[in-house]
Amino acid sequence: MSAVMQEMQTDIGLVSTVVARSSLSFIDGEKGVLEYVGYDIDDLARNSTFEETTFLLWHQRLPSHSELADFTARVQSNYDLSDAMWDMIVSLPRDANPMHALRTLTSALALEDPNADDPSEEANERKSLAMLAKMPALIAGFDRHRKGLDLVRPDTSSSIAESFLYMLTGEKPTQRMARAMDICLILHADHGFNASTFASLVTISTLSDMYSAVTTAIGTLKGPLHGGANQGVMIMLQEIDGIENAESFIMDKLTRKDKVMGFGHRVYKSVDPRATYLKTFAEGIAQDTGNIDLFNISKRIEEIMDREVGAKGIYPNVDFYSATTYFSLGLDLDLFTPLFAMSRVSGWTAHCLEYLEDNRLIRPRCDYVGPHAKEYVDISQR
Ligand code: SDX
Repeated sequence: MSAVMQEMQTDIGLVSTVVARSSLSFIDGEKGVLEYVGYDIDDLARNSTFEETTFLLWHQRLPSHSELADFTARVQSNYDLSDAMWDMIVSLPRDANPMHALRTLTSALALEDPNADDPSEEANERKSLAMLAKMPALIAGFDRHRKGLDLVRPDTSSSIAESFLYMLTGEKPTQRMARAMDICLILHADHGFNASTFASLVTISTLSDMYSAVTTAIGTLKGPLHGGANQGVMIMLQEIDGIENAESFIMDKLTRKDKVMGFGHRVYKSVDPRATYLKTFAEGIAQDTGNIDLFNISKRIEEIMDREVGAKGIYPNVDFYSATTYFSLGLDLDLFTPLFAMSRVSGWTAHCLEYLEDNRLIRPRCDYVGPHAKEYVDISQR
Protein backbone atom coordinates (compact mmCIF):
# COMPACT_ATOMS: atom_id res chain seq x y z
CA MET A 1 0.00 0.00 0.00
CA SER A 2 1.42 3.42 -0.99
CA ALA A 3 2.50 5.87 1.69
CA VAL A 4 -0.42 8.16 0.72
CA MET A 5 -2.91 5.32 1.08
CA GLN A 6 -1.40 4.32 4.41
CA GLU A 7 -2.42 7.75 5.75
CA MET A 8 -6.02 7.10 4.62
CA GLN A 9 -8.76 5.64 6.83
CA THR A 10 -10.78 2.74 5.40
CA ASP A 11 -14.45 2.89 6.40
CA ILE A 12 -16.56 0.63 4.15
CA GLY A 13 -20.07 2.07 3.90
CA LEU A 14 -18.91 5.27 5.66
CA VAL A 15 -20.33 3.79 8.89
CA SER A 16 -18.25 6.00 11.17
CA THR A 17 -17.06 8.80 8.92
CA VAL A 18 -18.14 12.45 9.23
CA VAL A 19 -18.02 14.10 5.81
CA ALA A 20 -19.37 17.58 6.61
CA ARG A 21 -20.99 19.77 9.26
CA SER A 22 -24.67 20.70 9.14
CA SER A 23 -27.17 22.68 11.23
CA LEU A 24 -30.24 20.97 9.80
CA SER A 25 -30.91 17.62 11.53
CA PHE A 26 -29.58 16.44 14.86
CA ILE A 27 -29.91 12.67 15.48
CA ASP A 28 -28.97 11.01 18.80
CA GLY A 29 -28.99 7.33 17.86
CA GLU A 30 -28.53 6.15 21.44
CA LYS A 31 -31.31 8.26 22.98
CA GLY A 32 -33.62 8.16 19.94
CA VAL A 33 -33.72 11.92 19.43
CA LEU A 34 -34.36 13.79 16.16
CA GLU A 35 -34.39 17.58 15.91
CA TYR A 36 -34.75 19.81 12.83
CA VAL A 37 -32.64 22.94 13.45
CA GLY A 38 -32.99 22.33 17.19
CA TYR A 39 -36.77 21.70 17.25
CA ASP A 40 -37.77 18.24 18.49
CA ILE A 41 -39.55 16.18 15.82
CA ASP A 42 -42.39 15.45 18.25
CA ASP A 43 -43.06 19.19 18.74
CA LEU A 44 -42.96 19.80 15.01
CA ALA A 45 -45.29 16.87 14.26
CA ARG A 46 -47.79 18.14 16.85
CA ASN A 47 -47.61 21.86 16.12
CA SER A 48 -46.10 22.59 12.69
CA THR A 49 -47.07 22.03 9.06
CA PHE A 50 -45.02 20.61 6.19
CA GLU A 51 -44.82 24.07 4.63
CA GLU A 52 -43.55 25.64 7.88
CA THR A 53 -41.09 22.76 8.39
CA THR A 54 -39.73 23.24 4.87
CA PHE A 55 -39.26 26.96 5.54
CA LEU A 56 -37.43 26.00 8.78
CA LEU A 57 -35.07 23.65 6.91
CA TRP A 58 -34.39 26.07 4.06
CA HIS A 59 -33.90 29.18 6.22
CA GLN A 60 -32.81 27.55 9.49
CA ARG A 61 -35.43 29.45 11.50
CA LEU A 62 -39.21 29.37 11.92
CA PRO A 63 -41.10 31.91 9.77
CA SER A 64 -43.20 34.80 11.00
CA HIS A 65 -46.91 34.64 10.20
CA SER A 66 -46.52 36.87 7.14
CA GLU A 67 -43.40 35.02 5.93
CA LEU A 68 -45.26 31.69 6.12
CA ALA A 69 -48.23 33.18 4.27
CA ASP A 70 -45.94 34.50 1.51
CA PHE A 71 -44.04 31.19 1.30
CA THR A 72 -47.25 29.15 1.16
CA ALA A 73 -48.67 31.42 -1.55
CA ARG A 74 -45.48 31.01 -3.63
CA VAL A 75 -45.65 27.23 -3.29
CA GLN A 76 -49.35 27.11 -4.18
CA SER A 77 -48.77 29.29 -7.25
CA ASN A 78 -46.23 26.67 -8.41
CA TYR A 79 -48.38 23.55 -7.88
CA ASP A 80 -49.63 23.22 -11.44
CA LEU A 81 -47.67 21.67 -14.29
CA SER A 82 -47.26 22.93 -17.82
CA ASP A 83 -49.43 21.32 -20.49
CA ALA A 84 -46.25 19.69 -21.81
CA MET A 85 -45.62 18.04 -18.43
CA TRP A 86 -49.22 16.78 -18.17
CA ASP A 87 -48.81 15.43 -21.71
CA MET A 88 -45.57 13.71 -20.69
CA ILE A 89 -47.33 12.06 -17.74
CA VAL A 90 -49.99 10.50 -19.98
CA SER A 91 -47.32 9.40 -22.47
CA LEU A 92 -45.64 7.14 -19.89
CA PRO A 93 -46.24 3.36 -19.87
CA ARG A 94 -49.10 2.65 -17.46
CA ASP A 95 -47.22 -0.27 -15.92
CA ALA A 96 -44.10 1.79 -15.13
CA ASN A 97 -42.78 1.73 -11.55
CA PRO A 98 -43.98 5.04 -10.00
CA MET A 99 -40.44 5.75 -8.74
CA HIS A 100 -39.08 5.43 -12.29
CA ALA A 101 -41.88 7.75 -13.41
CA LEU A 102 -41.16 10.28 -10.63
CA ARG A 103 -37.41 10.26 -11.31
CA THR A 104 -38.04 10.78 -15.05
CA LEU A 105 -40.67 13.50 -14.62
CA THR A 106 -38.72 15.42 -11.96
CA SER A 107 -35.67 15.38 -14.21
CA ALA A 108 -37.84 16.63 -17.09
CA LEU A 109 -38.78 19.76 -15.11
CA ALA A 110 -35.29 21.01 -15.95
CA LEU A 111 -36.10 20.92 -19.67
CA GLU A 112 -38.65 23.72 -19.31
CA ASP A 113 -36.63 25.87 -16.92
CA PRO A 114 -34.54 28.36 -18.96
CA ASN A 115 -32.46 29.02 -15.85
CA ALA A 116 -31.99 25.37 -14.85
CA ASP A 117 -28.21 25.84 -14.79
CA ASP A 118 -28.17 29.20 -12.95
CA PRO A 119 -26.01 28.42 -9.87
CA SER A 120 -27.09 31.45 -7.83
CA GLU A 121 -28.67 30.94 -4.40
CA GLU A 122 -31.84 32.71 -5.55
CA ALA A 123 -32.13 30.41 -8.60
CA ASN A 124 -31.45 27.30 -6.48
CA GLU A 125 -34.16 28.31 -4.00
CA ARG A 126 -36.59 28.87 -6.91
CA LYS A 127 -35.79 25.45 -8.40
CA SER A 128 -36.14 23.81 -4.97
CA LEU A 129 -39.54 25.41 -4.50
CA ALA A 130 -40.64 24.35 -7.99
CA MET A 131 -39.79 20.69 -7.31
CA LEU A 132 -41.37 20.78 -3.84
CA ALA A 133 -44.54 22.29 -5.31
CA LYS A 134 -44.80 20.08 -8.40
CA MET A 135 -43.82 16.58 -7.20
CA PRO A 136 -47.29 15.95 -5.72
CA ALA A 137 -48.88 16.57 -9.14
CA LEU A 138 -46.27 14.36 -10.84
CA ILE A 139 -47.05 11.47 -8.45
CA ALA A 140 -50.83 11.87 -8.37
CA GLY A 141 -51.00 12.57 -12.11
CA PHE A 142 -49.10 9.38 -12.97
CA ASP A 143 -51.28 7.34 -10.61
CA ARG A 144 -54.50 8.65 -12.21
CA HIS A 145 -53.02 8.07 -15.69
CA ARG A 146 -52.04 4.46 -14.99
CA LYS A 147 -55.55 3.78 -13.63
CA GLY A 148 -57.19 5.29 -16.71
CA LEU A 149 -58.73 8.08 -14.65
CA ASP A 150 -59.08 11.73 -15.63
CA LEU A 151 -56.23 13.91 -14.38
CA VAL A 152 -57.13 16.19 -11.47
CA ARG A 153 -55.41 19.57 -11.42
CA PRO A 154 -54.01 20.80 -8.07
CA ASP A 155 -56.14 22.76 -5.62
CA THR A 156 -54.08 25.96 -5.36
CA SER A 157 -56.04 27.12 -2.32
CA SER A 158 -55.02 24.24 -0.06
CA SER A 159 -51.91 22.78 1.57
CA ILE A 160 -49.49 20.40 -0.18
CA ALA A 161 -50.97 17.48 1.78
CA GLU A 162 -54.57 18.41 1.02
CA SER A 163 -53.95 19.16 -2.66
CA PHE A 164 -52.06 15.88 -3.08
CA LEU A 165 -54.92 13.78 -1.67
CA TYR A 166 -57.39 15.76 -3.80
CA MET A 167 -55.39 15.13 -6.99
CA LEU A 168 -55.05 11.45 -6.07
CA THR A 169 -58.72 10.72 -5.32
CA GLY A 170 -60.61 13.50 -7.08
CA GLU A 171 -62.30 14.30 -3.78
CA LYS A 172 -61.51 16.82 -1.08
CA PRO A 173 -59.95 14.91 1.84
CA THR A 174 -61.35 15.19 5.36
CA GLN A 175 -59.39 17.53 7.62
CA ARG A 176 -58.30 14.47 9.65
CA MET A 177 -56.90 12.74 6.55
CA ALA A 178 -55.22 15.93 5.31
CA ARG A 179 -53.63 16.48 8.75
CA ALA A 180 -52.48 12.85 8.83
CA MET A 181 -50.77 13.31 5.48
CA ASP A 182 -49.26 16.64 6.59
CA ILE A 183 -47.74 15.01 9.70
CA CYS A 184 -46.28 12.17 7.61
CA LEU A 185 -44.65 14.78 5.36
CA ILE A 186 -43.17 16.54 8.42
CA LEU A 187 -41.79 13.27 9.83
CA HIS A 188 -40.09 12.32 6.55
CA ALA A 189 -38.73 15.78 5.63
CA ASP A 190 -35.11 15.41 6.73
CA HIS A 191 -32.72 13.01 8.44
CA GLY A 192 -29.09 14.05 8.30
CA PHE A 193 -26.78 12.44 5.76
CA ASN A 194 -28.96 9.46 4.86
CA ALA A 195 -28.03 7.75 1.62
CA SER A 196 -30.26 9.80 -0.70
CA THR A 197 -29.30 13.13 0.88
CA PHE A 198 -25.62 12.24 0.71
CA ALA A 199 -26.07 11.22 -2.93
CA SER A 200 -27.62 14.61 -3.72
CA LEU A 201 -24.63 16.31 -2.09
CA VAL A 202 -22.16 14.32 -4.18
CA THR A 203 -23.95 15.67 -7.25
CA ILE A 204 -24.27 19.28 -6.08
CA SER A 205 -20.63 19.31 -4.88
CA THR A 206 -19.54 19.09 -8.54
CA LEU A 207 -21.53 22.35 -9.06
CA SER A 208 -24.04 20.44 -11.15
CA ASP A 209 -27.62 21.74 -10.97
CA MET A 210 -30.38 21.27 -8.36
CA TYR A 211 -32.58 19.21 -10.71
CA SER A 212 -29.71 16.75 -11.23
CA ALA A 213 -29.09 16.57 -7.46
CA VAL A 214 -32.74 15.75 -6.72
CA THR A 215 -32.87 13.24 -9.59
CA THR A 216 -29.84 11.50 -8.04
CA ALA A 217 -31.61 11.46 -4.67
CA ILE A 218 -34.84 9.96 -6.03
CA GLY A 219 -32.89 7.14 -7.65
CA THR A 220 -31.07 6.50 -4.36
CA LEU A 221 -34.18 6.64 -2.17
CA LYS A 222 -35.81 3.93 -4.32
CA GLY A 223 -33.67 1.15 -2.86
CA PRO A 224 -35.36 -1.33 -0.43
CA LEU A 225 -32.65 -0.73 2.19
CA HIS A 226 -33.63 2.96 2.23
CA GLY A 227 -36.87 4.57 1.12
CA GLY A 228 -38.25 1.42 -0.50
CA ALA A 229 -38.59 -0.28 2.90
CA ASN A 230 -42.09 1.08 3.66
CA GLN A 231 -43.49 -0.75 0.64
CA GLY A 232 -41.62 -3.86 1.79
CA VAL A 233 -43.24 -3.61 5.21
CA MET A 234 -46.74 -3.55 3.68
CA ILE A 235 -45.96 -6.53 1.45
CA MET A 236 -44.75 -8.40 4.56
CA LEU A 237 -47.92 -7.52 6.53
CA GLN A 238 -50.08 -8.80 3.68
CA GLU A 239 -48.01 -12.01 3.35
CA ILE A 240 -48.44 -12.67 7.09
CA ASP A 241 -52.18 -12.21 6.61
CA GLY A 242 -53.20 -13.11 10.19
CA ILE A 243 -51.68 -12.29 13.62
CA GLU A 244 -51.42 -16.01 14.38
CA ASN A 245 -48.89 -16.34 11.52
CA ALA A 246 -46.59 -13.55 12.69
CA GLU A 247 -44.38 -15.65 14.99
CA SER A 248 -43.49 -18.32 12.43
CA PHE A 249 -43.11 -15.80 9.60
CA ILE A 250 -40.68 -13.58 11.49
CA MET A 251 -38.74 -16.48 13.02
CA ASP A 252 -38.29 -18.00 9.54
CA LYS A 253 -36.89 -14.68 8.24
CA LEU A 254 -34.52 -14.31 11.16
CA THR A 255 -33.35 -17.92 10.83
CA ARG A 256 -32.57 -17.25 7.16
CA LYS A 257 -30.73 -14.04 8.18
CA ASP A 258 -33.22 -12.11 6.01
CA LYS A 259 -33.65 -8.43 6.90
CA VAL A 260 -37.10 -7.67 8.32
CA MET A 261 -38.24 -4.52 6.51
CA GLY A 262 -38.96 -1.52 8.73
CA PHE A 263 -36.45 -2.54 11.39
CA GLY A 264 -32.89 -1.53 12.10
CA HIS A 265 -31.04 1.66 11.32
CA ARG A 266 -27.50 2.77 10.65
CA VAL A 267 -27.75 5.49 13.31
CA TYR A 268 -30.60 4.64 15.71
CA LYS A 269 -29.67 1.90 18.17
CA SER A 270 -32.82 2.69 20.14
CA VAL A 271 -36.31 3.32 18.78
CA ASP A 272 -36.53 5.81 15.92
CA PRO A 273 -38.59 8.69 17.41
CA ARG A 274 -40.53 8.95 14.17
CA ALA A 275 -41.63 5.33 14.59
CA THR A 276 -42.78 6.10 18.12
CA TYR A 277 -44.93 8.97 16.90
CA LEU A 278 -46.21 7.05 13.88
CA LYS A 279 -47.14 4.02 16.01
CA THR A 280 -49.64 6.02 18.04
CA PHE A 281 -50.79 7.81 14.93
CA ALA A 282 -51.17 4.62 12.86
CA GLU A 283 -53.39 3.02 15.50
CA GLY A 284 -55.92 5.86 15.31
CA ILE A 285 -55.96 6.00 11.51
CA ALA A 286 -56.15 2.19 11.26
CA GLN A 287 -59.03 2.13 13.78
CA ASP A 288 -60.92 4.79 11.79
CA THR A 289 -60.43 3.02 8.46
CA GLY A 290 -61.06 -0.61 9.44
CA ASN A 291 -57.39 -1.61 9.23
CA ILE A 292 -56.79 -2.30 12.92
CA ASP A 293 -55.86 -5.92 12.13
CA LEU A 294 -52.85 -4.65 10.15
CA PHE A 295 -51.83 -2.48 13.07
CA ASN A 296 -52.18 -5.40 15.51
CA ILE A 297 -49.98 -7.60 13.29
CA SER A 298 -47.41 -4.78 13.28
CA LYS A 299 -47.50 -4.58 17.09
CA ARG A 300 -47.03 -8.36 17.31
CA ILE A 301 -44.04 -8.21 14.94
CA GLU A 302 -42.53 -5.48 17.08
CA GLU A 303 -42.87 -7.66 20.20
CA ILE A 304 -41.21 -10.63 18.46
CA MET A 305 -38.36 -8.52 17.05
CA ASP A 306 -37.82 -6.87 20.44
CA ARG A 307 -37.53 -10.33 22.05
CA GLU A 308 -35.22 -11.72 19.36
CA VAL A 309 -32.98 -8.78 18.27
CA GLY A 310 -33.80 -5.85 20.55
CA ALA A 311 -30.56 -6.47 22.44
CA LYS A 312 -28.69 -5.90 19.16
CA GLY A 313 -30.19 -2.42 18.87
CA ILE A 314 -32.61 -3.41 16.11
CA TYR A 315 -35.86 -1.50 16.58
CA PRO A 316 -38.66 -0.19 14.34
CA ASN A 317 -37.61 2.64 12.05
CA VAL A 318 -39.70 5.30 10.34
CA ASP A 319 -40.87 2.88 7.66
CA PHE A 320 -42.46 0.31 9.96
CA TYR A 321 -45.59 2.15 11.07
CA SER A 322 -45.73 4.55 8.12
CA ALA A 323 -46.73 1.52 6.04
CA THR A 324 -49.98 0.99 7.99
CA THR A 325 -50.61 4.74 7.99
CA TYR A 326 -50.21 5.13 4.22
CA PHE A 327 -52.26 1.98 3.52
CA SER A 328 -55.01 3.32 5.80
CA LEU A 329 -54.90 6.66 3.96
CA GLY A 330 -55.76 4.70 0.82
CA LEU A 331 -52.37 4.87 -0.92
CA ASP A 332 -51.35 2.01 -3.23
CA LEU A 333 -48.23 0.23 -1.92
CA ASP A 334 -46.02 1.42 -4.76
CA LEU A 335 -46.87 5.04 -3.94
CA PHE A 336 -45.34 4.80 -0.44
CA THR A 337 -41.81 5.58 -1.63
CA PRO A 338 -42.85 8.38 -4.01
CA LEU A 339 -44.64 9.91 -1.00
CA PHE A 340 -41.39 9.63 0.96
CA ALA A 341 -39.65 11.47 -1.92
CA MET A 342 -42.18 14.34 -2.09
CA SER A 343 -41.47 14.97 1.56
CA ARG A 344 -37.70 14.41 1.55
CA VAL A 345 -37.22 16.79 -1.37
CA SER A 346 -37.40 19.51 1.31
CA GLY A 347 -34.44 17.96 3.16
CA TRP A 348 -32.46 17.10 0.01
CA THR A 349 -32.70 20.70 -1.24
CA ALA A 350 -32.05 22.15 2.23
CA HIS A 351 -28.79 20.19 2.49
CA CYS A 352 -27.77 21.18 -1.05
CA LEU A 353 -28.41 24.87 -0.30
CA GLU A 354 -26.46 24.57 2.97
CA TYR A 355 -23.55 22.61 1.47
CA LEU A 356 -23.12 25.13 -1.37
CA GLU A 357 -22.42 27.84 1.24
CA ASP A 358 -18.96 26.23 1.69
CA ASN A 359 -18.72 23.77 -1.18
CA ARG A 360 -16.02 21.11 -1.38
CA LEU A 361 -16.02 18.50 -4.15
CA ILE A 362 -16.88 15.11 -2.60
CA ARG A 363 -14.37 12.62 -3.97
CA PRO A 364 -13.29 9.81 -1.61
CA ARG A 365 -10.42 7.38 -2.32
CA CYS A 366 -10.56 3.62 -2.80
CA ASP A 367 -8.01 1.04 -1.71
CA TYR A 368 -6.82 -0.55 -4.99
CA VAL A 369 -6.44 -4.32 -4.53
CA GLY A 370 -6.07 -5.29 -8.23
CA PRO A 371 -2.93 -6.38 -10.16
CA HIS A 372 0.02 -4.16 -11.27
CA ALA A 373 2.43 -3.98 -14.23
CA LYS A 374 0.58 -6.41 -16.48
CA GLU A 375 2.20 -6.99 -19.93
CA TYR A 376 -0.14 -6.11 -22.81
CA VAL A 377 -0.63 -9.12 -25.18
CA ASP A 378 -1.88 -8.49 -28.69
CA ILE A 379 -5.35 -9.90 -29.30
CA SER A 380 -3.91 -12.22 -31.96
CA GLN A 381 -1.96 -13.90 -29.15
CA ARG A 382 -4.89 -14.26 -26.70
C1 SDX B 1 -34.50 4.62 6.11
O1 SDX B 1 -30.14 6.62 7.12
C2 SDX B 1 -31.30 7.13 7.32
O2 SDX B 1 -31.46 8.10 8.05
C3 SDX B 1 -32.43 6.46 6.56
C4 SDX B 1 -33.84 6.90 6.95
C5 SDX B 1 -34.10 8.32 6.55
O3 SDX B 1 -34.97 8.96 7.18
O4 SDX B 1 -33.52 8.76 5.53
O5 SDX B 1 -34.02 6.75 8.34
C6 SDX B 1 -34.89 6.06 6.22
O6 SDX B 1 -33.90 4.25 5.14
C7 SDX B 1 -34.78 3.71 7.26
C8 SDX B 1 -34.22 2.27 7.04
C9 SDX B 1 -35.19 1.54 6.10
N1 SDX B 1 -34.62 0.20 5.73
C10 SDX B 1 -35.13 -0.92 6.22
O7 SDX B 1 -36.04 -0.99 7.04
C11 SDX B 1 -34.49 -2.17 5.63
C12 SDX B 1 -34.16 -3.16 6.75
N2 SDX B 1 -33.06 -2.64 7.57
C13 SDX B 1 -31.74 -3.12 7.29
O8 SDX B 1 -31.46 -3.37 5.95
C14 SDX B 1 -30.66 -2.35 8.05
O9 SDX B 1 -31.09 -2.21 9.35
C15 SDX B 1 -30.21 -0.99 7.53
C16 SDX B 1 -29.81 -1.06 6.10
C17 SDX B 1 -31.28 0.01 7.71
C18 SDX B 1 -29.00 -0.60 8.34
O10 SDX B 1 -28.06 -1.58 8.15
P1 SDX B 1 -26.53 -1.46 8.64
O11 SDX B 1 -26.36 -0.28 9.53
O12 SDX B 1 -25.65 -1.57 7.44
O13 SDX B 1 -26.39 -2.71 9.57
P2 SDX B 1 -26.15 -4.20 9.06
O14 SDX B 1 -26.96 -4.48 7.84
O15 SDX B 1 -24.69 -4.43 8.99
O16 SDX B 1 -26.80 -5.06 10.25
C19 SDX B 1 -26.09 -5.21 11.50
C20 SDX B 1 -26.63 -6.51 12.11
C21 SDX B 1 -26.56 -7.69 11.15
O17 SDX B 1 -26.50 -8.87 11.94
P3 SDX B 1 -25.05 -9.62 12.09
O18 SDX B 1 -24.56 -9.92 10.69
O19 SDX B 1 -24.16 -8.60 12.81
O20 SDX B 1 -25.36 -10.85 12.91
O21 SDX B 1 -28.04 -6.34 12.41
C22 SDX B 1 -28.79 -7.24 11.61
C23 SDX B 1 -27.89 -7.67 10.47
O22 SDX B 1 -28.29 -8.94 9.98
N3 SDX B 1 -29.94 -6.49 11.08
C24 SDX B 1 -31.14 -7.00 10.88
C25 SDX B 1 -31.92 -5.94 10.37
N4 SDX B 1 -31.17 -4.85 10.29
C26 SDX B 1 -29.94 -5.18 10.72
N5 SDX B 1 -31.63 -8.25 11.07
C27 SDX B 1 -32.93 -8.43 10.73
N6 SDX B 1 -33.74 -7.47 10.25
C28 SDX B 1 -33.26 -6.22 10.06
N7 SDX B 1 -34.06 -5.29 9.56
